[in-house]
Amino acid sequence: MHIENVPAPRHLVECASTNDIAREWARDGAPEGATVTADFQTAGRGRRGRIWHSTPGENLLISVVLRPPDLLADAWILAFVAALAVSDALAEFGVVSQLKWPNDILVEGRKVAGVLVETSALSGGDWAAVVGVGVNVNQARFAEDAAYEVRPISMRIALGEEMAVEKVGEAVARCLLSREADRRSHGAASILANWRERMALDFEIKRGPERGIQSSLEDDGRICVQLPDGTFARWGTLDALGTF
Ligand code: BTN
Repeated sequence: MHIENVPAPRHLVECASTNDIAREWARDGAPEGATVTADFQTAGRGRRGRIWHSTPGENLLISVVLRPPDLLADAWILAFVAALAVSDALAEFGVVSQLKWPNDILVEGRKVAGVLVETSALSGGDWAAVVGVGVNVNQARFAEDAAYEVRPISMRIALGEEMAVEKVGEAVARCLLSREADRRSHGAASILANWRERMALDFEIKRGPERGIQSSLEDDGRICVQLPDGTFARWGTLDALGTF
């Protein structure tokens, strides 16, 4: 993937959601790799309509525009590309992570980062994706009473030292473009194989009221889960994407 003329990253002190800013930018013609970061979001969102909370200035809030050459129906793979890329970026800082289906990044069984890929139909049948990533970088404490699906952790808690949020952002954007370039050259199979290698083993995941242990990832991105009654089910990837 050869990217020319990537504009300088846009950094905002505050916005509703960096995904919204990146989407508008994509609609105005932002090229692949265009990046938006913010110190604080007033309406940060996660998957399944959840709110993404982040204390001002302490964590990474980043959205990157992609313009994949694929059909919109194949956009689900981007969730896996993005989760792997975030895991790659964390490794550069000495943070070893595991993956929870479809696109959460865990350290010591706790959530250090989440990914929200949103697709946007553009004029002329074209489409763009906005890959939104929240990484808990320097937050030292998390509310005990919040209804977390998975208890959070930050890089700082894991490593015992603070990181430069901007450097983490640069690594995430670079690793994302690199993983996506690999996918375009070698196909989805290599992404899914690498995702499997980092899958959190015996980890309980939820889908609405349902719960199950993630056990294996199918070639179409579905996860095979073991349900509490011991039987197996496959959950699909529609859940992995948000749509504008
Ligand atoms: C999740 O775990 O449910 C996904 C969380 C994604 C949060 C990021 S923060 C930057 C970008 N802007 C948003 O509003 N959401 C994503």
